[in-house]
Amino acid sequence: LHTNSLDTGFATGLLLRIDRSQSRRVRAQLEGALREEMQRGRLGPGAKLPPTRTLAHELQIARSVVVEAYSQLVAEGYLEAVQGAGTRVRAAASTAASDPCPLTGPSLNAVFTTGLPDPAYFPRKEWLRAYRSVLEDCGPEALGLPDPQGRIELRTALSDHLARVRGIKSSSAQLLICNGISQIITIVGRALRTRGATRVGIEDPCFATHRRLITSCGLQPVPIPVDGDGVMVARIREHRVDAMLVAPAHSYPSGAVLSPARRRELVAWATEHDALIIEDDYDAEFRFDRTPLEALQGLAPANVVYAGSASKVLNPCLRIGWVSAPKWFVQDLIGAKFVEDVANETLGQLALARFIEKGALARHIRRVRPRYRARRDRLLEELTTQASELRPQGAAAGLHLFVPLPEGIREADAIATARADGLRVEGAARHWADPKAGSPAVLVGYGMLNESSVERDVRSLVAAIRGRGRAGFDSPPLNGCSAA
Ligand SMILES: Cc1ncc(COP(=O)(O)O)c(C=O)c1O
Repeated sequence: LHTNSLDTGFATGLLLRIDRSQSRRVRAQLEGALREEMQRGRLGPGAKLPPTRTLAHELQIARSVVVEAYSQLVAEGYLEAVQGAGTRVRAAASTAASDPCPLTGPSLNAVFTTGLPDPAYFPRKEWLRAYRSVLEDCGPEALGLPDPQGRIELRTALSDHLARVRGIKSSSAQLLICNGISQIITIVGRALRTRGATRVGIEDPCFATHRRLITSCGLQPVPIPVDGDGVMVARIREHRVDAMLVAPAHSYPSGAVLSPARRRELVAWATEHDALIIEDDYDAEFRFDRTPLEALQGLAPANVVYAGSASKVLNPCLRIGWVSAPKWFVQDLIGAKFVEDVANETLGQLALARFIEKGALARHIRRVRPRYRARRDRLLEELTTQASELRPQGAAAGLHLFVPLPEGIREADAIATARADGLRVEGAARHWADPKAGSPAVLVGYGMLNESSVERDVRSLVAAIRGRGRAGFDSPPLNGCSAA
């Protein structure tokens, strides 16, 4: 139904499809339809929404349903209710447009959120102990302008730790502390650009943020396809790229592990072409099924920039990442980091150094890895018993599964239905270089899985994938957030 508000000064020509025969779901349909209008930019920042009475009249639905839908979208941050001026699209809501189905919404159940460790597992006591002790001990020199390369205490602790657990060959002088892998990609990209690089290979699919970061450095990202053995290294040779960004231990989002043959092939390509491999080792601490694969860096230290992060193993709120660079590139990165934000703050670095030195990081990993493995097993068990048609992938490591959708199921429909049913689930589309060309899949995180409700939560997810909305409630998929 096209709303007909041309003469009222409100957003006009809204295409809101509401199926009134599904009376229990009208509100969810209306929310979905309005969200879609905002995500597609047809309702831009500041646009005024029709008064609830007008919209209810036009759509022939109860006014209370419109009031509830508006309130939910206000709670999600899409809309704002301005005293005396009605309801408008919030200025910041336009940023949601880059994700056709953003993960906002405090009311969504977060059990399947991807990429986040369980905040309940954050080792608060041990972190506090480490933080308190460094604050008590550190000399006046620590309370000044920080070193752009990062604290030597942390670089020393990390170089031992990384040599032991990831086979990294580098000294503390080659390590640099950054604000997470995201910043590492930015500073490596800027430093490469300064050296004249123009094109960087990226996995396809890859973490969408990384593609944006590469572009923001003035570099052209060149997508290289990923299959079950990881990135298809032979295809890199078809392009003239100066560097290749890759997550060999657990490609994101597909979860593919780079096969031994391809690891060798990738290193051979980099050495032959004097190119750089940017190794994203974001979740290597959580490898479940095999003995940990060493990082690529150990195979070719002169050609690999290795990036690790505290974001999965501890928590992304810390904003601490580490990069080990070949000797020839270290000063470039220190310069780029300084230009970016001067340096990481000191006390968190000292606390992490102490945390590692005291064995607390190793203890933490020993404690949480079996718990995440148990969550992964539980999720796999439920998914495969409740929906034998699903073939989850990427289970060897990390905190999420990649679940390709069976033929004929549209990703955006499954995601919209899951979210309308209150589940925070993400699709794979935005991680492909061309979202329309990628095969449909959902990403199901288990970092925050709730063991006591997993059966019910998976039932809702499976129902959404099958296009039936809330488990047991037989209705067609929503129109609200369907694929373009
Ligand atoms: C593939 C991948 N790499 C790296 C990161 C970590 O980023 P950061 O260290 O900036 O938090 C993430 C986080 O979600 C990720 O998914």
